[in-house]
Amino acid sequence: MTITGAARLAAILGWPVGHSRSPQLHGYWLDRLGIDGAVLPLAVRPEDLAETFRLLPRIGFTGWCLTIPHKQVALGLVHRLTQTARAIGSVNHVAVAEDGALVGNNTDAFGFLASLRAGAPSWDPAAAPAVVIGAGGAARAVVWALRDAGVREIRVTNRTPARAEGLVTAFGPSVSAIGWQDRAAALGGAGLLVNTTSLGMTGQPPLDLDLGALPPWAPVTDIVYSPLETALLAAARARGNPVVDGLGMLLHQARPLFESWFGIDPVVDDAVRAAVLGSGGP
Ligand code: ATR
Repeated sequence: MTITGAARLAAILGWPVGHSRSPQLHGYWLDRLGIDGAVLPLAVRPEDLAETFRLLPRIGFTGWCLTIPHKQVALGLVHRLTQTARAIGSVNHVAVAEDGALVGNNTDAFGFLASLRAGAPSWDPAAAPAVVIGAGGAARAVVWALRDAGVREIRVTNRTPARAEGLVTAFGPSVSAIGWQDRAAALGGAGLLVNTTSLGMTGQPPLDLDLGALPPWAPVTDIVYSPLETALLAAARARGNPVVDGLGMLLHQARPLFESWFGIDPVVDDAVRAAVLGSGGP
């Protein structure tokens, strides 16, 4: 859509940034809602990030979002952090407050929960333990979200045990670290299974996990969205578990960004999914 000189501007900062689907996603919403605005992909080298943070508000940007490799460094480049960003330890969203302060937020946890609730509406956080595979950056957002939603027991299992222990230290007694060799047994009595590792992504080996002990009513979700149906989700679907693919998290985490920049909470529906899937990139 054509923009005017008065357009509201936001940006996505990454290095590289060409693979990001965010410009298409926000562009689709802007078109659909008829908003005079744009979200520009900016390829920003790590050494230029601090200067970019100073410059963007001065040239009229209302905010920006961040992708690899900027999400941790940004913690130290904003004036204020939301509690969520501090707890998760990464910033994917920067808003320019009315007083000019840069506010760093993290919407990955929101996106994960919103996607899960939309895709598995029968999921009850308090009903049974959740099992989280992996303990990297994505796992921190997922564990934070699950704890916030009221899950009383979160079993984290990771190839490198120290990282799972780190999540126990960070998030407290509702989180337990389970040995990687015991990951299949950890599914016993679980009410949710989440893969936060890159296993199952195109070009990566599949996640090696026997689902036999998982109750058939437990939703299974994957943060991988390329392919949309990972081997994990296919196996879960085949045995009757509800499945939620990773694209939903990508789309829902963008809603609070769009709302802070353009004032409207946009809708995630099949048309948005189709628009983003048709846009190419990984
Ligand atoms: P992100 O921030 O996207 O979560 P990350 O911090 O690199 O990325 O974490 C990747 C996760 O995938 C980790 O849990 C990692 O396990 P390790 O902590 O042991 O590295 C997991 N992972 C990646 N490749 C794996 C593999 N081949 N087998 C098991 N786990 C793997």
